[in-house]
Amino acid sequence: MTVLVVDFGAQYAQLIARRVREARVYSEIVQSTITADEVRAKGPAAIILSGGPKSVYEVPAPQLDPAIFELGIPILGICYGAQLMALQLGGEVAHTGGGQYGRTELTRQGASSLMAEWPETQSCWMSHGDAIARAPEGFVVSAATPLAPVAVMEDPRRRLFGVQFHPEVAHAERGQELLETFLHDVAEIAPTWTNTSIIDDQVAAIRARVGDERVLCALSGGVDSAVAAALVTKAIGTQLTCVFVDTGLMRKDEGEQIEATFTRQFGVRLIHVKAQDRFFDALAGVVDPERKRKIIGELFIREFEAVARELAEGESPRFLVQGTLYPDVIESGSGHAANIKSHHNVGGLPDDLSFELIEPLRSLFKDEVRHVGEELGLPAQIVWRQPFPGPGLGVRIIGEVTRERAEILRNADHVVVDEIRRAGLYRELWQSFAVLPAVRTVGVMGDGRTYEYPIVIRAVTSDDAMTADWARLPYDVIESIANRLIREVPGVNRVALDVTSKPPGTIEWE
Ligand code: XMP
Repeated sequence: MTVLVVDFGAQYAQLIARRVREARVYSEIVQSTITADEVRAKGPAAIILSGGPKSVYEVPAPQLDPAIFELGIPILGICYGAQLMALQLGGEVAHTGGGQYGRTELTRQGASSLMAEWPETQSCWMSHGDAIARAPEGFVVSAATPLAPVAVMEDPRRRLFGVQFHPEVAHAERGQELLETFLHDVAEIAPTWTNTSIIDDQVAAIRARVGDERVLCALSGGVDSAVAAALVTKAIGTQLTCVFVDTGLMRKDEGEQIEATFTRQFGVRLIHVKAQDRFFDALAGVVDPERKRKIIGELFIREFEAVARELAEGESPRFLVQGTLYPDVIESGSGHAANIKSHHNVGGLPDDLSFELIEPLRSLFKDEVRHVGEELGLPAQIVWRQPFPGPGLGVRIIGEVTRERAEILRNADHVVVDEIRRAGLYRELWQSFAVLPAVRTVGVMGDGRTYEYPIVIRAVTSDDAMTADWARLPYDVIESIANRLIREVPGVNRVALDVTSKPPGTIEWE
């Protein structure tokens, strides 16, 4: 049972798809150019039309194949999606002059399938310039706001619905309830999409595809590769070989933790490549951030390649596991993101190493991946780990990356994270870590002068890393981090706090 979310270019389409999953129904995002035949081929149980940045009267404004409204599939249009539905089915849309943004009071009128239990008035979340002026024939208007005479329109016979407000945003009261009413009651979709069903589906699919071939997986220490590997292990057990390349730029105890989990708990064959020396040699004297990224990325691939070639002598793996997530799949489809930093993933393997890819998390959002990880028995420390960049500590050591400086930062990072955990803030922060600048400053400790590095505390809140705000850490937490950094980390004599949001800053310093 799939729900298609038709994307009209709003940042809300992903959010809608996630909300549908939260209602325990599988959702997939499709482009607005999809035809009725393509929809029929996918056989969705319902369709949701997203909002969008355009006015329905703009040229060119995205349209929808009108035959989709004739398929007999329940459809919910949201904002732009509702306006387009109104217009294409013979209603009217007008500029409201100024529009409505933010919390707005909605007044109910008459019977409603979507809002049966709602009170007479209810606040909702609006963000629109145009509004539906007249609903098409066959629809009843079941709610209005001061600037949107048709805030909700319903045609229960054809099961077509339009809402001018945004039920998917977090601060929309009763928003999730409305989506669930549409999905569970109107479209009669049973809420059966669970972590267990995701795991069972993937395990069966992987077994069928892999047969008795061998599979390779690069573990990075991050959540996605760990969950992907655990899932593949459940499917094919010892046919999987994992590779963990220690670049010398990993977090404290990361390698040991990976080894303990995968070797001892899951009984997986793990090749632990201790490549620290080669990374530090390659990075000697390099200070330019992009060059560092390139060197680390390329060397990583070379190390991985060496393992793969060695394995190829005997048991040649045919498949490679990748922890690609759904947002990566959607974003690489749209191709509009500017390249601010060159990202490092295992994806850039050379062509002559030809693997077939297994991407068991391709349809999942990050929060779903974490839940799947928990269900598979991965330790909380791995499953709830904050994101960590591919080049590791390398992009947090400003200036030259040396073994000594990496050790200072690794110890400092451990202190920051440990104090954040103790304060109970680790899960609510998107990331919290230490940065090592390329300057030294004078201090006094005991009776003597010191001349050592400062550490910068970087902690941010974010939903998706596209934008972020600096976290307002409590003063006592900052104080205990600072005290411990200076007391426990040799080489550090000063602590600063980064109060830059993104934009204009990026989350990482390089
Ligand atoms: P920035 O610094 O660009 O980072 O605001 C956004 C998010 O991406 C992470 N990041 C990376 N992740 N490979 C990755 O897999 C990389 O090369 C990389 N660089 C940055 C960063 O930690 C943040 O969560």
